[in-house]
Amino acid sequence: MTRVIIYSGKGGTGKTTISAATATLLARMGRRTLVLSSDPAHSLADALGTTISRDRPTPIIPGLYGLEVDTIYEWRHNLGGFQQFVASTYANRGIDRSTAAELANQPGLDEILALQRVMQEAQSGRWDAIVLDTAPTGNTLRLLAYPEMIIGGDAGKKFFRVYRGLANVARTFKRDLPDDRFFQEVGALLEKMEQLANFLLSQEISLRLVLNPERLPLLETRRAYTFLNLYGMLVDAVMVNKILPRRADLGPYFDYWVRLQQGYLREIDASFAPTPIFRTVLQEGEPIGVKALEAIGRATFGTADPGALLYDERPIWLEQWNEEGERGQYELCMRLPFLDEEEAVELTRNGPDLSLSVGRIQRTIALPRILYNCTLGEHRYEDGVLRLEFRETAEERLQPLVEESDEVRVEAA
Ligand SMILES: Nc1ncnc2c1ncn2[C@@H]1O[C@H](COP(=O)(O)OP(=O)(O)OP(=O)(O)O)[C@@H](O)[C@H]1O
Ligand SMILES: [Mg+2]
Repeated sequence: MTRVIIYSGKGGTGKTTISAATATLLARMGRRTLVLSSDPAHSLADALGTTISRDRPTPIIPGLYGLEVDTIYEWRHNLGGFQQFVASTYANRGIDRSTAAELANQPGLDEILALQRVMQEAQSGRWDAIVLDTAPTGNTLRLLAYPEMIIGGDAGKKFFRVYRGLANVARTFKRDLPDDRFFQEVGALLEKMEQLANFLLSQEISLRLVLNPERLPLLETRRAYTFLNLYGMLVDAVMVNKILPRRADLGPYFDYWVRLQQGYLREIDASFAPTPIFRTVLQEGEPIGVKALEAIGRATFGTADPGALLYDERPIWLEQWNEEGERGQYELCMRLPFLDEEEAVELTRNGPDLSLSVGRIQRTIALPRILYNCTLGEHRYEDGVLRLEFRETAEERLQPLVEESDEVRVEAA
């Protein structure tokens, strides 16, 4: 089985650098490794200090291959008929061909095509490990969890079948209806999307979130973490990059930044434990080339195996039930093995976030959207899992988000 590791995170945090470093380290350990980038603004080759092909894996060092997925190439290869049809439909409305081609390339499709390429490579049996460096967006993460969204799931499939039947009949009368190649390709795409959805949830795949010790990346990463966990994707590590070293010679200007970062590092620990957290120091120069990347990889992972599944439990999940005639009721479950059962848990709701503190431990999690308009009820702590009850209320649905604060005591389980 091929191990697949996907690095994701906000722009400029170091996804490409950490991806290339991980892959270099894996190759040095003797594993057949492919590092692949899905960012249309490729910089993988720049980080590795080499050139990389856009259609077939390019050898970089023994055991390491690189590929920068070219979505235009993948489009033509997989979806030429589909793109042609969409482009000609736009062209009929007076939009010129090049603009039409751009419009046919729907947002998110780049990522889907790259993931399909990852799936093909993983199934080829050629690799022990594949590392995917992604584009800097929060939204493509949603696509990872919902590939069926783009094509409308079951309803989309039914519509597609009906439309295909109608088009077959109507084509004799009307010229600009899609031809059979379009339907074959969209049909194949639907099938591939389904395979992709299953592939993404398999046990060999995990995501690692890359962030810097700063406010905005922390907030975004919290949301991605909750979201991915709720949708059953495995987040097996959190990578904190560009940490300022604690050195006496940095001077007062940097002392301020070092102190600020130390605060965020503590918040990061509290936000993502028990998921393993790895730290990478801001290097003295830009880490370009295999040698620098290997060094950064070793410093980051220490004795841990960068190819291992570093954590395989779900730290957050949502349980739902509906009693007869009752409104929706949910239980948000969090694995928090470090809590002291006797201590009081204090919960503070802050719009879309929930902070909890127990003794000296402070933790903030981003709530799933479905709970935004629910009221927090009782909570209990059982077998290392904190369970929070949420209940939907009709009135609150209409109200804007307000700050509210609930303080409750934990009952010893
Ligand atoms: N630990 C580090 N020390 C010093 N420089 C670093 C470190 N990590 C990354 N960099 C540099 O920071 C810049 C951004 O890093 P990188 O390209 O890996 O980020 P990215 O998340 O892939 O960015 P994008 O979102 O644009 O794809 C690069 O110039 C890289 O060399
Ligand atoms: Mg990048």
